[in-house]
Amino acid sequence: MTDLTRRKFLQATGASLATTSLLSAATSTPPLPSSGNHEGVVISSANGIETVNIAYQLMSEQNMRPVSAAIRGVAVVEADPNDMSVGYGGLPNERGVVQLDSSCMDGPTHNAGSVSCIEDIMHPAQVAELVMDRTDHINLVGQGARQFAIDHGFKAEDLLTERAREIWLKWRAKRTDDDRLWPLGDTVPADPALADEPRPWGTIHCSALNGAGDVGCCTTTSGLSFKIPGRIGDSPLVGAGMYCDNEIGSAGATGRGEAAIMSCGSMLVVERMRAGDSPEQACLYVLKRVAEQAQRASKWQPMLYRDGAPNFGLTFYAIRKDGTYASASMRGKPGSSKFAVADKNGARLENCAIAFA
Ligand code: GLY
Repeated sequence: MTDLTRRKFLQATGASLATTSLLSAATSTPPLPSSGNHEGVVISSANGIETVNIAYQLMSEQNMRPVSAAIRGVAVVEADPNDMSVGYGGLPNERGVVQLDSSCMDGPTHNAGSVSCIEDIMHPAQVAELVMDRTDHINLVGQGARQFAIDHGFKAEDLLTERAREIWLKWRAKRTDDDRLWPLGDTVPADPALADEPRPWGTIHCSALNGAGDVGCCTTTSGLSFKIPGRIGDSPLVGAGMYCDNEIGSAGATGRGEAAIMSCGSMLVVERMRAGDSPEQACLYVLKRVAEQAQRASKWQPMLYRDGAPNFGLTFYAIRKDGTYASASMRGKPGSSKFAVADKNGARLENCAIAFA
């Protein structure tokens, strides 16, 4: 567009004025949540009881920014060989290679960083933090991410534990040729061959709010086990696996990554809170939106129960700037799904709300 055409276009559309009013409309109605009167809170998926404790202490005792506290908190799960959905010990892709995804976001600067399909690096969330802090890029993938990590002093090491290798071998012995349109949910393994080894959903998301009202978050995972090499889920995608906005709050997802991607789920949770929802209302709203989307998407039809609700696991987590927080899961009995919380009263598990009981 030439300068002249651009000017005419702006005059014709009143775009410069419109831009100002659009911006104020987007940020001023309804009133933004206040910072509240709290001393901060950290939430995570249920596998993060130690994570939230560490992150809360780092924020309150060392004044660490929320995003870095969350990243240090999830490190304990990334290093845990017994958590087979994150970092070291995570279940591998269909070729037996552990490929990790992670992202992080800092509320005050609105900066984000992420890595996808990174191999041999135990702490991908810390690599995502370096991408966020030391580059103007957002996502590094595969070999590039691995090399970036090594250049920054990370050690390359084999992340496939003997236990994960045995489970992968068992899966491989049973697999059929077409493995990619099955319902991969944790509740209803579609193929009887996998009935005793349903693909686990895991991942850890951690959102943190400090006493000053700043937020930050990160999500880290080995992703869908036995995935096609190169598949990335929601965890390294800003807006899908995690998102925060310092005016509103922070959110993240664990579970069926494709569903969080298709709904831009974490950003939608934050935007629902901007529109006035409580954290629980926002999480439930997005889960119901996902269910509607799953009913429309032809390739997701096998992933529905007879009542039309999805059979895959998906959980959202949200903290609002005023210190309120919640989590909601797609399906289950009340009390069957938990999330971890730490605040001045210590660390504990609390019940998730359930979208389809
Ligand atoms: N939510 C993790 C994944 O789907 O990879």
